[in-house]
Amino acid sequence: MAGSLLRDRWVTRFGLIMAMAGNAVGLGNFIRFPGLAAEHGGGAFMVPYFVALVLMGIPLMWIEWTIGRYGGAYGHGSTPGMFHRLWRHPLSKYIGIFGVMLPAIIGLYYVYIESWSLGYAWQSITGAYWGKETQAEMGEVFTTYLGWGGGALAFGPQAYLFFVITILINFLVFLRGISKGIELLARFGMPVLLILGIILAVRVLTLETVDGRSVADGLAQIWVVDWSALSSPDIWIAASGQVFFTLSLGFGMIHAYAAYLGKDDDLTLNGLATVGTNSFVEVILGGTIVVPAALLFFGMDGIEVITDEGIFAISFQTLPVIFQQLPGGQFFATLWFLLLFLAGLMSSVAMFLPLLSFLQDELEIDRTKALAWIFVGVFIIMQPVMLLSHRGIMDELDFWVAVFFICVFAAAEVIIFAWIFGIDKGWEVMHRGADLRVPRVFYYIMKYVTPVYALALLSWYAYDGLLPTIMMEGVPPEDRWVLWLARLIVAGVFAFLAWGVWHAWRTHPKYFDDGNGEFEEIS
Ligand code: ALA
Repeated sequence: MAGSLLRDRWVTRFGLIMAMAGNAVGLGNFIRFPGLAAEHGGGAFMVPYFVALVLMGIPLMWIEWTIGRYGGAYGHGSTPGMFHRLWRHPLSKYIGIFGVMLPAIIGLYYVYIESWSLGYAWQSITGAYWGKETQAEMGEVFTTYLGWGGGALAFGPQAYLFFVITILINFLVFLRGISKGIELLARFGMPVLLILGIILAVRVLTLETVDGRSVADGLAQIWVVDWSALSSPDIWIAASGQVFFTLSLGFGMIHAYAAYLGKDDDLTLNGLATVGTNSFVEVILGGTIVVPAALLFFGMDGIEVITDEGIFAISFQTLPVIFQQLPGGQFFATLWFLLLFLAGLMSSVAMFLPLLSFLQDELEIDRTKALAWIFVGVFIIMQPVMLLSHRGIMDELDFWVAVFFICVFAAAEVIIFAWIFGIDKGWEVMHRGADLRVPRVFYYIMKYVTPVYALALLSWYAYDGLLPTIMMEGVPPEDRWVLWLARLIVAGVFAFLAWGVWHAWRTHPKYFDDGNGEFEEIS
């Protein structure tokens, strides 16, 4: 048997939990979550958020760990092979393509955004933007840094340099493999991230009153619920989408990590620990740092203006303005951007793993060659993503791969797991080696509620956002080709993987027929 899974394994339980938490904790926790929470009324957002966490987040986390460990025991490190083991139907492996395609394409712009944090950490250390004390001035710093000044192409020399450094760091970790690369990074990176987050949260909690507004007012914004806001479907959709994104669910990234479990390793307690750590970081740390600080300094009207400016405004414009008004602000600003970078890095190293596993396990390409191909491919495709980043290419990619298709994939996987593979068998496989007996109510949630929830969400996207997005409503004619290019990238990656699946199953069918549905010893 070929494969990525023969030599490597998670070495320690602590390392595994930290790596999975690092996979989940990312820019989503510190940029996306506060942005969405502020936009959707703070406290009100938390209600659908926790509902989605219990009915979708936790069950899907267990399901993805189970599918990953199960497929991994047959030597499959990515979802095409894993789904084939769950459902012997020609379609299953093609559905599995999403679990390779989505994280790889998300990685194309995610790594770029991650590199901004590194660049801003550097600018904070050197004090490069110090003295630009208004939102407008910091807005200019941001657009200048990225070269978003209005030309046909966006190019900022510093942004490019930090992008190159970031991608090299990612591949360096990736090159070292699971135990010596990803696990090692997470064993140190996650505790450091937690410490940085706690320092920043304490700093915010001890801020003085500004214009009669206290930190308590800021915290009330994120915790006091305006129940009337819950009647809007938008808030439910946004919160559910955030639960997918922040937990890396519906991506194929959790499966890829779980494939490196031993066949008797616990996954129920570990899976829950992943959700718990991510929620703590997101709600307690992410929720305490960003929104309350912005509210304290700028008030409610200020928050509205900030959220109108787009998802990156709070992190890259508002917070630097705030830090400049604090004693020792340069230090805290540096910590903030290092925190973002570290969070981003521990997620992005998981994003190309499904592709690497697919190339190794199913296409039988040697690891070094597969890594080289990925590096070159990713680097080339990232160029237009960067150069056209001011013209909507990232938003277009994001809608397809991080909003719509993750929902398609999650709906498909829960149906395959609970209804085709069968919830009884799934429940039994999930509990193999388990340190935590999952309450029986989740059996019913996984069977009925999670699939219905995921399908309802999908139907809503299809009804509400799909047609205007497909028709590019509101997009200036001169930018339409940019969005077509984004779609071409998605279609191109899908076509390549579809070819890969077809080729693999045709050229060495025996490998895919091995086994009788029981676990196999593979190490
Ligand atoms: N789960 C990762 C994040 O939150 C992708 O950024």
